[in-house]
Amino acid sequence: MTVKKITWRSIIPTCYKSEVPSSKTKKVCSKQNSFQRISLSDLSNPNSIFSEDISISLAGSNVHAFTLMELKVITQNFSSTNFLGEGGFGPVHKGFIDDKLRPGLMAQPVAVKLLDLDGLQGHREWLTEVIFLGQLRHPHLVKLIGYCCEEEHRLLVYEYMPRGSLENHLFRRYSVSLPWSTRMKIALGAAKGLGFLHEAEKPVIYRDFKASNILLDSDYTAKLSDFGLAKDGPEGDDTHVSTRVMGTQGYAAPEYIMTGHLTAMSDVYSFGVVLLELLTGRKSVDKNRPSREQNLVDWARPMLNDSRKLGRIMDPRLEGQYSEAGARKAAALAYQCLSHRPKQRPSMSTVVETLEPLKDYNEIPFGPFVYTVPSENGLNEEHAKELEGQKELKRESQKKENGHHHGHKRQHRSSKSPKIHSQTDMRQNCRDHQGMHSPLHHMGRAA
Ligand SMILES: Nc1ncnc2c1ncn2[C@@H]1O[C@H](COP(=O)(O)OP(=O)(O)OP(=O)(O)O)[C@@H](O)[C@H]1O
Ligand SMILES: [Mg+2]
Repeated sequence: MTVKKITWRSIIPTCYKSEVPSSKTKKVCSKQNSFQRISLSDLSNPNSIFSEDISISLAGSNVHAFTLMELKVITQNFSSTNFLGEGGFGPVHKGFIDDKLRPGLMAQPVAVKLLDLDGLQGHREWLTEVIFLGQLRHPHLVKLIGYCCEEEHRLLVYEYMPRGSLENHLFRRYSVSLPWSTRMKIALGAAKGLGFLHEAEKPVIYRDFKASNILLDSDYTAKLSDFGLAKDGPEGDDTHVSTRVMGTQGYAAPEYIMTGHLTAMSDVYSFGVVLLELLTGRKSVDKNRPSREQNLVDWARPMLNDSRKLGRIMDPRLEGQYSEAGARKAAALAYQCLSHRPKQRPSMSTVVETLEPLKDYNEIPFGPFVYTVPSENGLNEEHAKELEGQKELKRESQKKENGHHHGHKRQHRSSKSPKIHSQTDMRQNCRDHQGMHSPLHHMGRAA
C-alpha cells in the first residue's frame, strides 16, 4: 500500500494565500480501497485553518481547489436564475465547468454550495465535508468535485443532481407523485450508500440521513449528500461514539437523543424514518397535522406490522398503485429499523438484501380511477382514508372476480400534493427549521 505523506496546508492550499501553493497539491483525494482514509481527528487543530503542518495519509486525488473568482464566473455571480435551493449551510447554485475554466476539467454541470457567513454552520462543517466526501467514492454518494477556501469564504462544488432532493419530490406542492417502483429504487440506492459507509474499512456514521440529503440523478439513482455531521465510527472495543446530539428532529434515533451515544444503528433508525416517508408520503414531523399525527413514527409505526391497517397509512398519492406484498415487506422492514432497541434493528446490508427484490415487485392492482381532491390545508385526511378504504374494498372484490393482475400498471396521474414548500417558503422554512430543529440541528459546532 502506497501512503503519501502530505500536510494539512497542502489539503487546503488556497486558504494560505500568502504562501505559494505547491502545484503537486492542487488535487486531494484518496481511493477508498487502496489508502488509509484520514479523519478529522488526524488534524491537530481542525478548528483553525492556521493549524501547524500535520502528516496525513492521502493519495489519488481528483478534488479541485477552486478560486472564489472561478466559482463566481461559473454561477454568474451566484445569480438568482442559477439558484437551486438553500439549507443550513447556505445557498446552492448551479454552474458549469469545463476545460476552459481549468485545463483537464471534464465538461459538466455542478452545484456550488456557498457558506452563509451569518448562518449557524461554519468552517468545521465545511472541513468535515471536504475530509469525508473528498475521500469517499461510491455510486450512491454525491461526488465532491472541489472546494474553495479563501479568507472567510467556504464553498463546496458537487456533481449536479438533475432531479434535486427526495424531499422536494415527496413533499413539494405541485410535484408529480413518485411511482411505487421509483420509491423502492430510491430506498435501495440510499440504503446502499449508507451500507457502504457503515462497512468501510474505517466505518463512517452519517448522522444526518433524511429526505433532503438524498439527491436524485436523472434516472432516480439516489445519492447521499451533506457530510457536515458525519463521524468516524467507534474503534477497537468501543461500542459507540459519544457526541453532542446533532441531527434533525423527527429523524434522530431516540437513544441517541437521550444519551448522545452514536452508533451505526442511529443511522438505521433514520433510514427507517425515510422509508416511512416513502410509504406514507408524510413528513417525519408535520406541525400542520392533528397533534397525534404530527410525529410520523409515533403515528404510523403501530400500523406497519398490521396488513389490514397498512392501507390506511399508505400515501394516497400512490392511488393504490403499489404491490401489496411489496408494501407489506417494506413496512415490516421500516418497523424493524424503527425499533426502540438499537440491537433489534437490521444492519444496512440486511436492509439492502431485503429491499433488493422489492423494486421488481410489479403486482400492481388494476383499479378504477379515483381523483382525490386536496383541501385548503392539503388533502383532507378523513376523506383520504375513506377513499383508501373504498379502494381497498374495490381491489379485494376485483381480485376475487379477476384473480391477480400482474403488470397492469395504468397511466400514472399527477395529483396535487397535500402540502409543503414553495420555492420561497423553502428558503424561509430552512431558516425556521433551524429553530424548530433546535437543539438537534446544526446548533453550534459538530462534536
Ligand atoms: N448536488 C446537487 N445537485 C442539485 N441540487 C442540489 C445539490 N446539492 C444541493 N442541491 C439543492 O439545494 C438544496 C439545499 O441543499 P442543502 O443540502 O444545502 O440543504 P438541505 O439538505 O435542504 O438542508 P440541511 O441544511 O438541513 O441539510 C437541496 O434541497 C437541493 O434542491
Ligand atoms: Mg442537505
